[in-house]
Amino acid sequence: MTERIVLAYSGGLDTSVAIGWIGEATGAEVIAVAVDVGQGGESLETIRQRALGCGAVEAYVADASDEFANEYCVPTLKANALYQGHYPLVSAISRPVIVKHLVKAAREFGATTVAHGCTGKGNDQVRFEVGIQTLGPDLKCIAPVRDLALTRDKAIAFAEEKGLPIETTKKNPYSIDQNVWGRAVETGYLEDIWNAPTKDIYDYTATPEFPPAPDEVTISFEAGVPVAIDGVKVTALQAIKELNRRAGAQGVGRIDVVEDRLVGIKSREIYEAPGAMALITAHKHLEDITVEREQARFKATVGQRWAELVYDGQWFSPLKRSLDAFIEDTQKYVSGDIRMTLHGGQAIVNGRRSDTSLYDFSLATYDTGDTFDQSQAKGFIELWGMSAKVASGRDIRVAGK
Ligand code: ARG
Repeated sequence: MTERIVLAYSGGLDTSVAIGWIGEATGAEVIAVAVDVGQGGESLETIRQRALGCGAVEAYVADASDEFANEYCVPTLKANALYQGHYPLVSAISRPVIVKHLVKAAREFGATTVAHGCTGKGNDQVRFEVGIQTLGPDLKCIAPVRDLALTRDKAIAFAEEKGLPIETTKKNPYSIDQNVWGRAVETGYLEDIWNAPTKDIYDYTATPEFPPAPDEVTISFEAGVPVAIDGVKVTALQAIKELNRRAGAQGVGRIDVVEDRLVGIKSREIYEAPGAMALITAHKHLEDITVEREQARFKATVGQRWAELVYDGQWFSPLKRSLDAFIEDTQKYVSGDIRMTLHGGQAIVNGRRSDTSLYDFSLATYDTGDTFDQSQAKGFIELWGMSAKVASGRDIRVAGK
């Protein structure tokens, strides 16, 4: 029987050419797999037809947008995950869900190998292959751009020679990856890290310099999950989409960073993640009133480690699973409403309420109704500073000798 390879298919030039390129290089039959993670653009059926037109023996499309929102974006939100303090893991969380569908398709169609369109310089090759190794240890991996010398120029020449049903003249100077959680743009003019991004780079966000009137939004959460916007019940996917639209219109969530890739390269990336950044801001503020201080402090450390693991392609790892269990436990009381104003590139929280709040007015107030016994503070401070005070006494004594 002819060997079969499933290919992670985007519908773009590189993966369209990869279908025939892999076929010629290996003699295998190629099955194209397209996964909808809310990236927008062409319909899955158009993409499916193109794959078949480019020589795929089967084309499998999966609508994973709700699955992606519920099982990948929501955990990222619960973790308030921002890699290096900036990047909400847009591409990093889409790879594991795509991997799940690739492995499923490989089983369904009897494939022995999984192929993807990544280069040998990025994080995504790692995320795909580590994921595949974990979910399908018997499956092999191949990356035509990296392993079969499929360059951009060769791809254009191949598509023209074979008359593939794919545009080869449209020249986009950027490498773009997008899904409902956000959008990532790199390469070209952006590789000079002194160059400011030009307007044409952005798609999810409008220029914040000329914002429309401020937009006030109330986001309701239940156990860390967004469940309503302005009192209207929503799914996680709907919440992200609605905030992409409203926060995007205000230019919220533009991020310009030089980040540390797993392969050791520092690289410049422009992100826009209006919904993700508005949700993370709101969620964090709700945690501020519902999560106990020590748990909250420790959770910040856990969230940072979680972000690094996910960035580094360890979505399916045991440590990630353990951290998930911790984070899930912290979310039990993260329920309530956050009111925020979206305006001029910012999402600013200006109101919060929760039935499970730890904010105690009678302890906090400086007005009448104060129940806090200030006389207890003096003794507390004495003991709290004792250890450092004893050490300081020793330092002075030793220095004086
Ligand atoms: N740097 C981001 C990451 O490693 C995004 C990678 C994909 N970016 C792109 N523009 N193609 O997660």
